[in-house]
Amino acid sequence: MSPTTKSFFISLLLNLLIQPFDAWACGEHHHHPHDNEAPTKRLFDIPKGSSARVSIIDSTARLRGSRPSDLLTPYIPGFDNFSHPSPSWSFLVENSKGDKRALFDLGGPPNFTESYSPAIQRVIQTAPWTFSVDKHVVDILRENRVNPASIGSIVWSHSHFDHIGDPSTFPHSTDLVVGPGWKAAFLPAYPTDPDSPVKDAYWQGRNLVEIDFTKKPLKIGAFSALDFFGDGSFYLLDAPGHSVGHMTALARTTSKRKDRDDQDTFIYMGGDLVHHASEIRPSKLVPFPRNAEHKYPCRPTKPKTKPPTRCPGTEAFRALNVELGRDPDGPTTDPTLFVNFTQAKQSIEKTQAADASENVFVIWAHYAEIEGTVDLFPKFANDWKKKGWRDKVFWSYLMDLAPAATNVSLLEKKC
Ligand SMILES: *[C@@H]1O[C@H](CO)[C@@H](O)[C@H](O)[C@H]1NC(C)=O
Ligand SMILES: *[C@@H]1O[C@H](CO)[C@@H](O)[C@H](O)[C@H]1NC(C)=O
Ligand SMILES: *[C@@H]1O[C@H](CO)[C@@H](O)[C@H](O)[C@H]1NC(C)=O
Ligand SMILES: *[C@@H]1O[C@H](CO)[C@@H](O)[C@H](O)[C@H]1NC(C)=O
Ligand SMILES: [Zn+2]
Repeated sequence: MSPTTKSFFISLLLNLLIQPFDAWACGEHHHHPHDNEAPTKRLFDIPKGSSARVSIIDSTARLRGSRPSDLLTPYIPGFDNFSHPSPSWSFLVENSKGDKRALFDLGGPPNFTESYSPAIQRVIQTAPWTFSVDKHVVDILRENRVNPASIGSIVWSHSHFDHIGDPSTFPHSTDLVVGPGWKAAFLPAYPTDPDSPVKDAYWQGRNLVEIDFTKKPLKIGAFSALDFFGDGSFYLLDAPGHSVGHMTALARTTSKRKDRDDQDTFIYMGGDLVHHASEIRPSKLVPFPRNAEHKYPCRPTKPKTKPPTRCPGTEAFRALNVELGRDPDGPTTDPTLFVNFTQAKQSIEKTQAADASENVFVIWAHYAEIEGTVDLFPKFANDWKKKGWRDKVFWSYLMDLAPAATNVSLLEKKC
């Protein structure tokens, strides 16, 4: 018996054993072909390269009181508020030689009431949510003995206020890097254009670099990409749709060692590609997990004595998708904030191939569920796979969908 056949029979056996206890397992017989595979190579091809050191910086920016319905559609009954304030992760990436450093996104500045352009000040003053920031990223670096002059580039995933920080707090030797089409859309800025969301001061005295993905064509999965450090450790990816010139990034966190048969690992920085996991999961490549009720923080009161009453399982989440008019095996929601929906969806679909790989940890800028699980700067995030961070948080968002899925499964209990 081949190992694959053997593991198939073992999982079949386990499945049969588990089924009678699975309260919501109505009709759960469909196949999960990718449960035990790491489809990196085929689905999300990444050329060889060296690794980078990566830290996830808590920019200290927090958005409170924004509602799921501001960001996601369709409305999921019972999911009326986010359970966590929205963080705004920034990333510090350094190549292995140690001569190249970049920041991907900057959160916001603490003195934003003075720092932002008047247009953004108006947005913040009239918004139904609140924004707060404790520190400039440049000061977080300094406090941890990282010299701001060692930062070669600030890469903006896009130029919304919760990502731009204040680049003018960095020395002039630090470049500001933006995505395709950005200059045409945003120049001239404030004060020349009094209504511009960004300010000329952000790039005065420094290089403002717009990435051209056609110059040295490179593919990472289905994305047009740029090898930013030139050594395969940090790629920028063309991921438009949310905003003009929106980019994501991919850093190699470990590279294959000659003596070991494991694959490279990566952190994929998602910017505002999505705001909630329900926009990207599940997918054809990553179906709702078997026994979904064990994969999110669902705590039934008497697990031993009674089937859980508030822990819907796999079939309930699929039924919820159908109830909402969605593909049962696709994302439950779509983004509502975009400049081009078709492009936004395409960028999400291209990222699903990365998200399907157990060697890629996809972290969007406002991925709240990772807080408390991942190590933050000044610690490194390179050992994320060994530490199991991705798997710990991957399905935790299902708790947001659980109230609605419970209701749907109650309706369908007759099966
Ligand atoms: C679930 O159904 C009950 C009864 O119909 C309803 O009152 C409640 O609002 C529903 N909750 C959700 C989250 O759909
Ligand atoms: C959600 O937030 C709104 C506005 O802050 C509040 O009125 C409402 O009670 C909250 N709903 C729940 C279920 O906590
Ligand atoms: C915001 O804070 C930074 C750093 O302290 C300072 O350089 C900058 O001038 C401030 N911006 C405004 C508009 O006050
Ligand atoms: C949106 O993007 C699609 C795909 O790139 C393109 O065909 C379409 O023209 C764009 N729509 C607008 C309004 O720019
Ligand atoms: Zn954002």
